[in-house]
Amino acid sequence: MTLDEAKKLLAANGQEHVLKFYSKLSAAQKKALLAQIESIDFAAVKYCRETLAAKDAPVKKAKKEAKIVAPKVAELKGKALEKAVAAGEKELAAGRVAVLLVAGGQGSRLGFDGPKGCYEIGPVTGAPLFYFHARKVLALTAKYEKSVPFYIMTSEANYEATVRHFDEHNFFGLDPEDVIFFKQGMWPGMTDDGKIILDAPGHIFMSPDGHGGLIASHERTRCFKDMKKRGVKSVYFFQVDNPLVEVADPAFIGHHVLNKAEYSLKVCAKRDWKEGLGVPVKKGSHFEMIEYTELSEADAKRTTANGELYFKYGSPAIHVFDRAFLEREAKKAMPLHLAHKKIQTVDAKGKIVKASEPNGWKFEKFIFDILPDAKSVTNVAFDRADEFAPVKNAEGSDSPATCQAALKAKWAKGLAAKYGITLSEDATIEVDPIFELDGSAAAIFIGK
Ligand code: UD1
Repeated sequence: MTLDEAKKLLAANGQEHVLKFYSKLSAAQKKALLAQIESIDFAAVKYCRETLAAKDAPVKKAKKEAKIVAPKVAELKGKALEKAVAAGEKELAAGRVAVLLVAGGQGSRLGFDGPKGCYEIGPVTGAPLFYFHARKVLALTAKYEKSVPFYIMTSEANYEATVRHFDEHNFFGLDPEDVIFFKQGMWPGMTDDGKIILDAPGHIFMSPDGHGGLIASHERTRCFKDMKKRGVKSVYFFQVDNPLVEVADPAFIGHHVLNKAEYSLKVCAKRDWKEGLGVPVKKGSHFEMIEYTELSEADAKRTTANGELYFKYGSPAIHVFDRAFLEREAKKAMPLHLAHKKIQTVDAKGKIVKASEPNGWKFEKFIFDILPDAKSVTNVAFDRADEFAPVKNAEGSDSPATCQAALKAKWAKGLAAKYGITLSEDATIEVDPIFELDGSAAAIFIGK
């Protein structure tokens, strides 16, 4: 992009200030700034500005807005479970299932510098989160003798490190052809008046567009095309922080397919009313996810006649999507969530200023905002001890310690059920996910 082209583009979007310090930059800095401007999607910038301008406008309430109610939740047992497993196994054996991991986040809450997927959680070998996810995909390909394409979304910041990590670990045994990395989008941050923020005289502050950005990025990077070419029908979605997840388990896939659902959600009973999980609800004829930060305290605390929480289920962010539904959604704009943050900026003379108070806005899309558009939705309950132990905080709840305890409990249960082995209280073990699905190529690592 030339300087003239950049000037025109910025002027058309009310962002001329971005070039304020251009004449003082080195040749390399000038080139980099022009490249950055060229990479920005100005239609998206316009959408962010409009959303920002409308944020304080009074919300026009529909005359009779439907109340939120708890959705129907299926518990798969007995014959229903058998039927679902058989249907799911058929999909996996036919190669109609893809796995999609959102791994754009950094391990900042954990105090970990790097892609969160590289965080070492294996209690004996120190295997990273990515190892557990990838080996589960490998176990599926081994069991169903069919490749399961594994799509991994990273942010701009952690793309190189993520790809290198897989490379250094020989893709954890997966065929590199079946591991597809793609980057989510980046959006510039803005001040209250919709002006793009410079965090250095020759650099625009950019931030990832949230996991909802996967739809636009998938379209942009032709992943949907790739999925279609491979014959994929169902897309299993999960988050990087949960090594307990049962990746693409046949029961969930099968239940989704048998119900001809466009969007299926796994849900688990919340620990208590305060737990920070999104809450799936029904509003009129459609479904929605209310993020924990947006659910009123009264609704969160509401109980039934027998004293149970009325909205007792939370979302571990484990979903199955119909591929065609995701493609349909790629043609629509998703709602934006605004976050007010402290963002480094420059003063009138181009001197860098660290922010002591929130001074700018970041914009994010959440994948579950497509839920209301789904024509058919299923919610399936599961026991969290079997599938959900995220690593979010350095200490306390949802920490490496609680996650490792949950992994050990699950492995111990599996070993007792399969082989009658009882582990001593202080045993430290680790099980290769290949072993959990299939006795061959087994590896159990014993710590002490
Ligand atoms: C999330 C969900 C919450 C759910 C909980 C379950 C959101 C907004 N909330 O909360 O409803 O109950 O998990 O554990 O998602 N990511 C990207 N790109 C981004 C931002 C995030 O790929 O731009 C990925 C992260 O790598 C991670 C996942 O999305 O895998 C969730 O992000 P995180 O910010 O950790 O969400 P939570 O606040 O834990």
